[in-house]
Amino acid sequence: MESPFKEDILKGKVALVTGGGSGIGLEISSQFGKHGASVAIMGRRKTILDSAVSSLRSQGIQAIGLEGDVRKKEDAIGVLELTVKHFGRLDILVNAAAGNFLVSAEDLSPNGFRTVMDIDSVGTFTMCHEALKYLKKGGLGRGTASGGTILNISATLHYTASWYQIHVSAAKFLALEWGTDYDIRVNGIAPGPIKDTTGLSKLVPDEAENKIKDYMPLYKLGEKWDIAMSALYLASNAEGTD
Ligand code: HXC
Repeated sequence: MESPFKEDILKGKVALVTGGGSGIGLEISSQFGKHGASVAIMGRRKTILDSAVSSLRSQGIQAIGLEGDVRKKEDAIGVLELTVKHFGRLDILVNAAAGNFLVSAEDLSPNGFRTVMDIDSVGTFTMCHEALKYLKKGGLGRGTASGGTILNISATLHYTASWYQIHVSAAKFLALEWGTDYDIRVNGIAPGPIKDTTGLSKLVPDEAENKIKDYMPLYKLGEKWDIAMSALYLASNAEGTD
């Protein structure tokens, strides 16, 4: 699909995408790269990172893969340091790492609850917290934010009560803002069911996938590209094409 944005809208910018090795995170990394950004992707599994980095580089994108778990503060610090050491700056932090599974509250162990909170909520906060000093110096140039920008990929599950989603609903309910103090733009995107993602395969049984489409205004599931384009809009100072 052809991008509606100018191809250089992120030229010279550096993005760090947690969970950037697969799914929505990888598509965001790819679209940011195609629009001029250098991209560091963070993930726990080396093989997935390696294949994602090869795929990004084969598209002409300046990309590096950095192993790390957002649950570990030392990993967050190390990955941010390496990103800035390699690319010289940080302008955009995308928190796309997520953990989720379907389970009733009764069957969910406290450790299972903690695991999802630690990834989705504490992990997101840790990344933001450790990235702040770099984002204060980074920036998007002209436009609304003179500092860098943060984009949190959330979900729609916490808008109303969702069956078997007590852990994620608690985690994703967080919002945070450093706009006033540091002019850092913080936004969130809350995707519904997105085709070809781990989330969809874990949360929606195959046989239900076709039925979901009946409730969608366009009778189709969302695509990773749709989310990446929203991310691009929020992370840039896009003005549209002439
Ligand atoms: C019940 C479970 C469970 C399950 C794990 N646990 N899976 N409980 N049902 N299916 C419990 C374990 O029993 C354990 O508790 C605790 O959680 C930690 O499990 P580990 O396997 O040790 O955790 P870990 O290896 O760190 O893996 C984390 C994970 C895993 C979250 C469990 O699934 C993962 O890595 N996921 C990443 C990818 C992902 O989930 N993406 C989907 C995002 S979808 P005990 O008490 O036994 O020690 C999304 C929204 C999509 O965000 C919206 C679509 C509509």
